[in-house]
Amino acid sequence: MPLLGLGTFRLRGPEETYRTVDAALTVGYRAFDTAAVYRNEADIGQALSTLLPKHGLSRADVFITTKLSPRDQGSKARDGCLRSLEQLGLDYIDLCLIHWPGTQGLDVKDKRNPDNRAQSWATLEEFYTEGKFHAIGVSNYTVKHMEELLNSCRVVPALLQVEFHPRLAQTELREICEKNGVCFQAYSSLGTGVLLSDPVVQEMAERCGRTPAQVLLRWALQQNIPVLPKSCQPHRVQENACLFDFELSDGDMAKLSALDCSEKFCWDPSLVL
Ligand SMILES: NC(=O)c1ccc[n+]([C@@H]2O[C@H](COP(=O)([O-])OP(=O)(O)OC[C@H]3O[C@@H](n4cnc5c(N)ncnc54)[C@H](OP(=O)(O)O)[C@@H]3O)[C@@H](O)[C@H]2O)c1
Repeated sequence: MPLLGLGTFRLRGPEETYRTVDAALTVGYRAFDTAAVYRNEADIGQALSTLLPKHGLSRADVFITTKLSPRDQGSKARDGCLRSLEQLGLDYIDLCLIHWPGTQGLDVKDKRNPDNRAQSWATLEEFYTEGKFHAIGVSNYTVKHMEELLNSCRVVPALLQVEFHPRLAQTELREICEKNGVCFQAYSSLGTGVLLSDPVVQEMAERCGRTPAQVLLRWALQQNIPVLPKSCQPHRVQENACLFDFELSDGDMAKLSALDCSEKFCWDPSLVL
Protein backbone atom coordinates (compact mmCIF):
# COMPACT_ATOMS: atom_id res chain seq x y z
CA MET A 1 0.00 0.00 0.00
CA PRO A 2 1.40 3.43 -0.89
CA LEU A 3 2.28 5.69 2.04
CA LEU A 4 0.29 8.52 0.43
CA GLY A 5 -3.37 8.17 -0.48
CA LEU A 6 -6.07 10.64 -1.45
CA GLY A 7 -8.80 11.14 1.16
CA THR A 8 -12.20 11.50 -0.47
CA PHE A 9 -14.60 12.36 2.38
CA ARG A 10 -16.85 15.20 1.15
CA LEU A 11 -15.72 14.74 -2.47
CA ARG A 12 -19.06 15.12 -4.17
CA GLY A 13 -20.46 14.62 -7.65
CA PRO A 14 -18.99 13.13 -10.82
CA GLU A 15 -17.29 16.35 -12.07
CA GLU A 16 -15.51 17.25 -8.85
CA THR A 17 -14.51 13.62 -8.34
CA TYR A 18 -13.19 13.24 -11.90
CA ARG A 19 -11.20 16.48 -11.71
CA THR A 20 -9.69 15.60 -8.33
CA VAL A 21 -8.80 11.99 -9.19
CA ASP A 22 -7.28 13.23 -12.47
CA ALA A 23 -5.12 15.76 -10.58
CA ALA A 24 -4.12 13.10 -8.05
CA LEU A 25 -3.08 10.54 -10.67
CA THR A 26 -1.11 13.24 -12.52
CA VAL A 27 1.06 14.03 -9.50
CA GLY A 28 1.57 10.41 -8.48
CA TYR A 29 -1.16 9.38 -6.05
CA ARG A 30 -1.85 5.67 -6.47
CA ALA A 31 -4.11 5.09 -3.44
CA PHE A 32 -7.67 6.31 -2.89
CA ASP A 33 -9.65 6.12 0.34
CA THR A 34 -13.43 6.01 0.07
CA ALA A 35 -16.32 4.55 2.09
CA ALA A 36 -19.93 3.56 1.57
CA VAL A 37 -21.00 6.47 3.78
CA TYR A 38 -19.16 9.02 1.60
CA ARG A 39 -21.64 8.18 -1.17
CA ASN A 40 -18.96 8.68 -3.82
CA GLU A 41 -17.90 5.08 -4.53
CA ALA A 42 -19.74 5.07 -7.89
CA ASP A 43 -18.20 8.42 -8.93
CA ILE A 44 -14.72 7.23 -7.97
CA GLY A 45 -15.19 3.93 -9.79
CA GLN A 46 -16.35 5.74 -12.91
CA ALA A 47 -13.58 8.31 -12.77
CA LEU A 48 -10.98 5.55 -12.45
CA SER A 49 -12.39 3.52 -15.33
CA THR A 50 -11.88 6.52 -17.65
CA LEU A 51 -8.73 7.92 -16.07
CA LEU A 52 -6.59 4.79 -15.66
CA PRO A 53 -6.24 4.25 -19.43
CA LYS A 54 -5.75 8.01 -19.90
CA HIS A 55 -2.78 7.88 -17.53
CA GLY A 56 -1.43 4.64 -19.01
CA LEU A 57 -2.30 2.75 -15.83
CA SER A 58 -4.17 -0.44 -15.09
CA ARG A 59 -6.32 -1.59 -12.16
CA ALA A 60 -3.33 -3.24 -10.52
CA ASP A 61 -1.47 0.10 -10.39
CA VAL A 62 -3.91 1.64 -7.91
CA PHE A 63 -4.89 0.76 -4.35
CA ILE A 64 -8.55 1.24 -3.46
CA THR A 65 -9.78 1.27 0.13
CA THR A 66 -13.43 1.33 1.08
CA LYS A 67 -15.34 0.84 4.32
CA LEU A 68 -18.41 -1.03 5.46
CA SER A 69 -21.08 1.41 6.61
CA PRO A 70 -22.18 1.38 10.29
CA ARG A 71 -25.66 0.90 8.83
CA ASP A 72 -24.61 -2.47 7.34
CA GLN A 73 -22.92 -3.77 10.48
CA GLY A 74 -23.91 -7.35 11.42
CA SER A 75 -26.42 -9.32 9.36
CA LYS A 76 -26.39 -6.75 6.52
CA ALA A 77 -22.61 -6.88 6.10
CA ARG A 78 -22.64 -9.25 3.12
CA ASP A 79 -25.03 -6.99 1.19
CA GLY A 80 -22.95 -3.94 2.13
CA CYS A 81 -19.74 -5.52 0.84
CA LEU A 82 -21.38 -6.60 -2.42
CA ARG A 83 -22.84 -3.11 -2.85
CA SER A 84 -19.38 -1.50 -2.49
CA LEU A 85 -17.93 -3.81 -5.16
CA GLU A 86 -20.84 -2.99 -7.44
CA GLN A 87 -20.72 0.78 -6.82
CA LEU A 88 -16.98 0.90 -7.44
CA GLY A 89 -17.41 -1.34 -10.49
CA LEU A 90 -14.48 -3.50 -9.37
CA ASP A 91 -13.82 -7.26 -9.30
CA TYR A 92 -11.84 -6.84 -6.11
CA ILE A 93 -11.11 -4.20 -3.49
CA ASP A 94 -7.56 -3.79 -2.22
CA LEU A 95 -8.57 -3.05 1.36
CA CYS A 96 -11.97 -3.09 3.05
CA LEU A 97 -12.38 -1.76 6.59
CA ILE A 98 -15.14 -1.88 9.17
CA HIS A 99 -15.73 1.88 9.33
CA TRP A 100 -16.88 2.16 12.93
CA PRO A 101 -17.14 -0.19 15.94
CA GLY A 102 -20.82 0.62 16.50
CA THR A 103 -24.00 -0.05 14.57
CA GLN A 104 -26.08 2.82 13.22
CA GLY A 105 -29.40 3.07 15.05
CA LEU A 106 -28.16 1.35 18.23
CA ASP A 107 -27.22 3.16 21.42
CA VAL A 108 -23.44 3.20 21.97
CA LYS A 109 -23.95 1.07 25.11
CA ASP A 110 -26.16 -1.50 23.36
CA LYS A 111 -24.83 -5.04 23.90
CA ARG A 112 -25.53 -5.91 20.26
CA ASN A 113 -22.66 -3.64 19.13
CA PRO A 114 -19.89 -6.22 19.82
CA ASP A 115 -21.93 -9.08 18.31
CA ASN A 116 -22.63 -7.08 15.16
CA ARG A 117 -19.02 -6.09 14.57
CA ALA A 118 -17.93 -9.71 15.14
CA GLN A 119 -20.41 -10.78 12.47
CA SER A 120 -19.14 -8.03 10.14
CA TRP A 121 -15.57 -9.20 10.67
CA ALA A 122 -16.54 -12.80 9.85
CA THR A 123 -18.11 -11.50 6.63
CA LEU A 124 -14.98 -9.52 5.70
CA GLU A 125 -12.97 -12.70 6.35
CA GLU A 126 -15.20 -14.55 3.86
CA PHE A 127 -14.67 -11.89 1.17
CA TYR A 128 -10.95 -12.05 1.91
CA THR A 129 -10.91 -15.84 1.52
CA GLU A 130 -12.88 -15.55 -1.71
CA GLY A 131 -10.29 -13.09 -3.06
CA LYS A 132 -12.80 -10.25 -3.43
CA PHE A 133 -10.98 -8.24 -0.77
CA HIS A 134 -7.19 -8.44 -0.96
CA ALA A 135 -6.85 -7.14 2.60
CA ILE A 136 -9.22 -6.39 5.48
CA GLY A 137 -8.99 -4.10 8.46
CA VAL A 138 -10.81 -1.76 10.81
CA SER A 139 -11.23 1.93 11.50
CA ASN A 140 -11.97 3.93 14.63
CA TYR A 141 -11.35 0.92 16.87
CA THR A 142 -10.17 1.76 20.39
CA VAL A 143 -7.73 -0.34 22.42
CA LYS A 144 -10.68 -2.33 23.80
CA HIS A 145 -12.14 -3.02 20.33
CA MET A 146 -8.72 -4.02 18.98
CA GLU A 147 -8.02 -6.43 21.84
CA GLU A 148 -11.42 -8.04 21.41
CA LEU A 149 -10.84 -8.47 17.66
CA LEU A 150 -7.26 -9.73 18.00
CA ASN A 151 -8.45 -12.32 20.53
CA SER A 152 -11.22 -13.68 18.32
CA CYS A 153 -10.27 -13.20 14.66
CA ARG A 154 -9.35 -15.91 12.15
CA VAL A 155 -7.64 -13.36 9.89
CA VAL A 156 -5.59 -10.71 11.72
CA PRO A 157 -6.58 -7.19 10.59
CA ALA A 158 -4.06 -5.81 8.11
CA LEU A 159 -4.63 -2.20 9.08
CA LEU A 160 -6.16 0.18 11.62
CA GLN A 161 -7.20 3.61 10.31
CA VAL A 162 -7.72 6.26 13.02
CA GLU A 163 -7.50 10.00 13.55
CA PHE A 164 -3.83 10.90 14.06
CA HIS A 165 -1.98 14.23 14.08
CA PRO A 166 0.38 16.10 16.43
CA ARG A 167 -2.46 16.86 18.87
CA LEU A 168 -3.56 13.20 19.04
CA ALA A 169 -0.66 10.80 19.59
CA GLN A 170 -2.63 7.50 19.86
CA THR A 171 0.36 5.98 21.67
CA GLU A 172 -1.38 2.87 23.03
CA LEU A 173 -3.05 2.03 19.72
CA ARG A 174 0.25 2.39 17.89
CA GLU A 175 1.89 0.00 20.35
CA ILE A 176 -0.86 -2.60 19.87
CA CYS A 177 -0.52 -2.30 16.09
CA GLU A 178 3.23 -2.68 16.20
CA LYS A 179 3.05 -5.70 18.52
CA ASN A 180 0.51 -7.48 16.30
CA GLY A 181 1.81 -6.58 12.84
CA VAL A 182 -1.13 -4.30 12.08
CA CYS A 183 -0.42 -1.26 9.86
CA PHE A 184 -1.36 1.98 11.63
CA GLN A 185 -2.80 4.55 9.18
CA ALA A 186 -3.59 8.20 9.90
CA TYR A 187 -6.72 10.08 8.92
CA SER A 188 -7.37 13.81 9.36
CA SER A 189 -3.62 14.52 9.44
CA LEU A 190 -4.42 18.20 8.88
CA GLY A 191 -6.88 18.14 11.79
CA THR A 192 -9.61 18.54 9.12
CA GLY A 193 -7.82 21.81 8.24
CA VAL A 194 -7.74 23.30 11.76
CA LEU A 195 -4.06 22.48 12.41
CA LEU A 196 -2.97 24.45 9.34
CA SER A 197 -3.22 27.60 11.46
CA ASP A 198 -1.46 26.19 14.55
CA PRO A 199 1.35 28.68 15.38
CA VAL A 200 4.00 25.96 15.94
CA VAL A 201 3.15 24.37 12.57
CA GLN A 202 3.11 27.76 10.84
CA GLU A 203 6.47 28.83 12.27
CA MET A 204 8.06 25.53 11.24
CA ALA A 205 6.61 25.69 7.74
CA GLU A 206 7.95 29.19 7.21
CA ARG A 207 11.39 28.25 8.52
CA CYS A 208 11.57 25.10 6.33
CA GLY A 209 10.23 26.82 3.21
CA ARG A 210 7.27 24.41 3.14
CA THR A 211 3.53 24.74 3.72
CA PRO A 212 1.76 23.85 7.00
CA ALA A 213 0.05 20.91 5.27
CA GLN A 214 3.39 19.51 4.10
CA VAL A 215 4.88 19.82 7.59
CA LEU A 216 1.93 17.95 9.16
CA LEU A 217 1.98 15.18 6.56
CA ARG A 218 5.77 14.84 6.69
CA TRP A 219 5.63 14.46 10.50
CA ALA A 220 3.48 11.33 10.05
CA LEU A 221 5.42 9.94 7.08
CA GLN A 222 8.70 10.31 8.93
CA GLN A 223 7.28 7.91 11.54
CA ASN A 224 6.40 5.52 8.70
CA ILE A 225 2.69 6.22 9.11
CA PRO A 226 0.61 6.31 5.89
CA VAL A 227 -1.51 9.44 5.33
CA LEU A 228 -4.71 10.32 3.43
CA PRO A 229 -4.92 14.09 2.95
CA LYS A 230 -8.17 15.21 1.37
CA SER A 231 -8.50 18.15 -0.98
CA CYS A 232 -10.77 18.82 -3.91
CA GLN A 233 -8.50 21.59 -5.17
CA PRO A 234 -5.93 20.38 -7.73
CA HIS A 235 -3.16 22.75 -6.54
CA ARG A 236 -3.57 21.46 -2.96
CA VAL A 237 -3.72 17.85 -4.14
CA GLN A 238 -0.33 18.53 -5.69
CA GLU A 239 1.01 20.40 -2.65
CA ASN A 240 0.02 17.50 -0.38
CA ALA A 241 2.00 15.06 -2.51
CA CYS A 242 5.31 16.98 -2.34
CA LEU A 243 6.51 15.21 0.78
CA PHE A 244 9.43 13.07 -0.25
CA ASP A 245 12.12 15.68 -0.97
CA PHE A 246 12.61 17.14 2.50
CA GLU A 247 13.07 16.02 6.08
CA LEU A 248 12.10 17.47 9.44
CA SER A 249 14.91 17.64 12.01
CA ASP A 250 14.70 15.51 15.17
CA GLY A 251 14.06 18.76 17.07
CA ASP A 252 11.15 19.72 14.85
CA MET A 253 9.69 16.19 15.03
CA ALA A 254 9.83 16.39 18.83
CA LYS A 255 8.33 19.89 18.85
CA LEU A 256 5.32 18.67 16.86
CA SER A 257 4.93 15.52 18.97
CA ALA A 258 4.90 17.72 22.08
CA LEU A 259 1.61 19.27 20.88
CA ASP A 260 -0.25 16.10 21.94
CA CYS A 261 -3.27 16.99 24.08
CA SER A 262 -5.65 14.15 23.06
CA GLU A 263 -7.68 16.55 20.91
CA LYS A 264 -10.08 14.97 18.41
CA PHE A 265 -11.63 16.76 15.44
CA CYS A 266 -13.67 13.80 14.20
CA TRP A 267 -16.06 11.31 15.77
CA ASP A 268 -15.10 9.69 19.06
CA PRO A 269 -15.50 5.90 19.35
CA SER A 270 -14.47 5.65 23.02
CA LEU A 271 -18.02 5.15 24.34
CA VAL A 272 -18.98 2.38 21.90
CA LEU A 273 -19.43 -0.86 23.85
N1 LIG B 1 -12.22 6.28 8.85
C1 LIG B 1 -12.80 7.40 9.23
O1 LIG B 1 -13.71 7.41 10.06
C2 LIG B 1 -12.32 8.69 8.63
C3 LIG B 1 -12.68 9.89 9.26
C4 LIG B 1 -12.20 11.08 8.70
C5 LIG B 1 -11.40 11.02 7.57
N2 LIG B 1 -11.10 9.84 6.96
C6 LIG B 1 -10.30 9.77 5.71
O2 LIG B 1 -9.19 10.63 5.81
C7 LIG B 1 -9.28 11.65 4.81
C8 LIG B 1 -8.67 12.95 5.32
O3 LIG B 1 -9.29 13.40 6.49
P1 LIG B 1 -10.25 14.68 6.50
O4 LIG B 1 -10.90 14.82 5.17
O5 LIG B 1 -11.10 14.54 7.70
O6 LIG B 1 -9.32 15.91 6.80
P2 LIG B 1 -7.86 16.45 6.41
O7 LIG B 1 -7.24 15.74 5.28
O8 LIG B 1 -7.14 16.52 7.71
O9 LIG B 1 -8.23 17.95 5.97
C9 LIG B 1 -9.03 18.21 4.87
C10 LIG B 1 -9.37 19.69 4.86
O10 LIG B 1 -8.20 20.47 4.71
C11 LIG B 1 -8.27 21.24 3.50
N3 LIG B 1 -6.95 21.13 2.86
C12 LIG B 1 -6.39 20.01 2.33
N4 LIG B 1 -5.16 20.25 1.88
C13 LIG B 1 -4.91 21.56 2.12
C14 LIG B 1 -3.81 22.39 1.89
N5 LIG B 1 -2.69 21.92 1.32
N6 LIG B 1 -3.90 23.69 2.27
C15 LIG B 1 -5.00 24.18 2.85
N7 LIG B 1 -6.10 23.42 3.11
C16 LIG B 1 -6.05 22.12 2.76
C17 LIG B 1 -9.37 20.63 2.67
O11 LIG B 1 -10.07 21.62 1.94
P3 LIG B 1 -10.21 21.56 0.32
O12 LIG B 1 -10.80 20.24 -0.04
O13 LIG B 1 -11.10 22.72 0.01
O14 LIG B 1 -8.81 21.74 -0.21
C18 LIG B 1 -10.30 20.05 3.74
O15 LIG B 1 -11.17 21.06 4.23
C19 LIG B 1 -10.78 11.72 4.51
O16 LIG B 1 -11.06 12.38 3.30
C20 LIG B 1 -11.13 10.26 4.52
O17 LIG B 1 -10.72 9.64 3.31
C21 LIG B 1 -11.53 8.67 7.50
